[in-house]
Amino acid sequence: MANILVTGGCGFIGANLVPMLRNKGHDITILDNFSRGSRDYLDDHTAYAIVDADIRDEDAVLKAAQGQDAIIHLAAYGSVVESVDAPEENFSVNAVGTFKVLNAARSAGVDQVIFSSTGGALIGNATPPVNEQSVPRPISPYGASKLAGEGYCCAFANAYDMSITALRFANVVGPISWHKKGAVTAFFKAIMNNEPIKIYGDGAATRDFLYVEDLCRGIIAGLEAKKPKFNAYHLASGREVTIKELADIACQVASVNNHPIYFNTKRKGEVERNFANYDLAHNVLGFQPFFKLEDGMDLTWKWFLKQNDSV
Ligand SMILES: NC(=O)c1ccc[n+]([C@@H]2O[C@H](COP(=O)([O-])OP(=O)(O)OC[C@H]3O[C@@H](n4cnc5c(N)ncnc54)[C@H](O)[C@@H]3O)[C@@H](O)[C@H]2O)c1
Repeated sequence: MANILVTGGCGFIGANLVPMLRNKGHDITILDNFSRGSRDYLDDHTAYAIVDADIRDEDAVLKAAQGQDAIIHLAAYGSVVESVDAPEENFSVNAVGTFKVLNAARSAGVDQVIFSSTGGALIGNATPPVNEQSVPRPISPYGASKLAGEGYCCAFANAYDMSITALRFANVVGPISWHKKGAVTAFFKAIMNNEPIKIYGDGAATRDFLYVEDLCRGIIAGLEAKKPKFNAYHLASGREVTIKELADIACQVASVNNHPIYFNTKRKGEVERNFANYDLAHNVLGFQPFFKLEDGMDLTWKWFLKQNDSV
């Protein structure tokens, strides 16, 4: 049993992760400023100590870090497209905020930190499959901010002998994502509202989608594995899927035929092709995704239907 601080624990990934950590017997503290997340996303908010604070508030983060065995740092300004419009705020939350979390971990003597990084946005437009040897050339402020975060993770691990692991998440699919602005949420909401599905670009851009339960198992594997004091690992499915295929899968799991799809101008900052090889995470952390995208989309659609019923 360990004491674990989860920043951003009331968001999509955090709310899926914390019950899994609790089921393993860990004591969880969540630090969140509720800019995107909500206590209502948690399975049982009384089961967690919750600190309402911003990761850039040094005193609050240091206080929350005291007595913790690990920090899982998920809090972020998570949108590629919004980062293009607001690069300062993105830098402030993701680069400065990550620095403050690492510095608090150092001051409080926390044994290890897991950092939520990103695959596609950090690497940029490289020929896939990408892996940990691919040279990062981000094309959005969001990708750059995560690369800066990884830089500080590597520096702190070496300068202060800390155990820090950067996990580069693929595009995550799953329940508790109603508030998200990515393709899966937009497609399911369009289907529910009987509106056309809107695709930016010609639909040929590709992504690597990972079901949230597989991702959370990967985060827990990252926490528990014996590993070098710093490394970055891609947590991905290894399957390349076009955005048009994703829209077709969304229609298929929602049992709608010939749903209208509109194609809009491609947006700045979004990479063209991306999928990642997860061999390193498999070999070092024991990470292995189990869910087929079609099955993960089906479970996500069923969750969306339940939300719609309760609105
Ligand atoms: N969802 C994905 O597909 C995906 C892919 C790659 C990487 N990631 C990374 O995973 C992490 C979690 O993403 P998510 O999808 O759960 O996002 P989310 O927006 O659902 O959750 C982020 C949480 O952090 C909180 N937060 C934001 N800014 C904060 C701040 N300044 N101080 C304190 N709390 C703050 C929000 O209120 C929210 O609860 C992020 O770091 C994101 O960049 C996500």
